[in-house]
Amino acid sequence: MKLANKVALVTGGTSGIGLETARLFRDEGAKVVVIGTSEQRLREAEHVLGENAMILRADLRDPLQIDKAVAEVVETHGAIDIVFANAGAGKSAPFDAVTPEQLGDQFALNVGGLFFTIQKSAPHLRDGGSIVVTTSFLNAVGTPGLAVLSATKAAVRSLVRSIGAELAPRRIRVNAVSPGPIDTPFASKLGLPEDDLRKSGEALAAAVPLKRIGSAVEVAKAVLFLASDDASYVTGTELVVDGGLSQI
Ligand SMILES: NC(=O)c1ccc[n+]([C@@H]2O[C@H](COP(=O)([O-])OP(=O)(O)OC[C@H]3O[C@@H](n4cnc5c(N)ncnc54)[C@H](OP(=O)(O)O)[C@@H]3O)[C@@H](O)[C@H]2O)c1
Repeated sequence: MKLANKVALVTGGTSGIGLETARLFRDEGAKVVVIGTSEQRLREAEHVLGENAMILRADLRDPLQIDKAVAEVVETHGAIDIVFANAGAGKSAPFDAVTPEQLGDQFALNVGGLFFTIQKSAPHLRDGGSIVVTTSFLNAVGTPGLAVLSATKAAVRSLVRSIGAELAPRRIRVNAVSPGPIDTPFASKLGLPEDDLRKSGEALAAAVPLKRIGSAVEVAKAVLFLASDDASYVTGTELVVDGGLSQI
């Protein structure tokens, strides 16, 4: 098993990519802790991951709630080996209609939540540990209606390099996984009308060189690689899992 007895914290681990990754980490021997906000999804994650998983409710837009969650992890497990800072959300809006509230909210979760998850976990990370974050193919292409979401993911790509440089002396590796369009509830929360959502999904699938939407487990396998010793000489990079959409 690739992660025997490792303690792995997965934000956004109650749905989609995070939940599949937590399941894979558990199957590889890790003690998993997942964070989300929705009571219903927290219960579903408990059902999927089993009684040994730790399921925590925290709104990552609030650094005080991150403090509390990390303290609970440390109280139970003593230290952390792996952080998968993955929670994220977006709202679609044409650039000229974006409000300060929409911009602030997406940056508060996708950048602030991720930044403070890593900052507050770092003192408890064992030397030689691994941090993986979720960016997006959107940080490499321009997409109408998704300026703010795409900018948050570009900021996260940059953080991987800067935080990677700061943590390298402790042999802690920091990397990103960059998913293309993946079959999760994510797109349904963008605020698009049902018909537009279906059409954009079809257009995206047709634009992907591999001609399909990806699955959460295909991303989870890339995260497992980056989190495990298989990637022991890999830091500061972004592993793109997008069927070629942003590359060819
Ligand atoms: N699916 C795609 O096509 C795609 C493509 C590129 C990148 N990504 C990225 O992949 C990551 C995971 O997305 P997904 O596709 O797995 O979507 P998802 O199924 O909607 O999962 C999002 C997760 O984030 C959690 N979350 C949302 N707001 C939160 C908050 N304020 N505090 C704490 N947790 C919060 C959700 O928990 P609750 O619902 O319980 O709050 C959920 O567990 C995101 O960063 C996303 O940007 C996705």
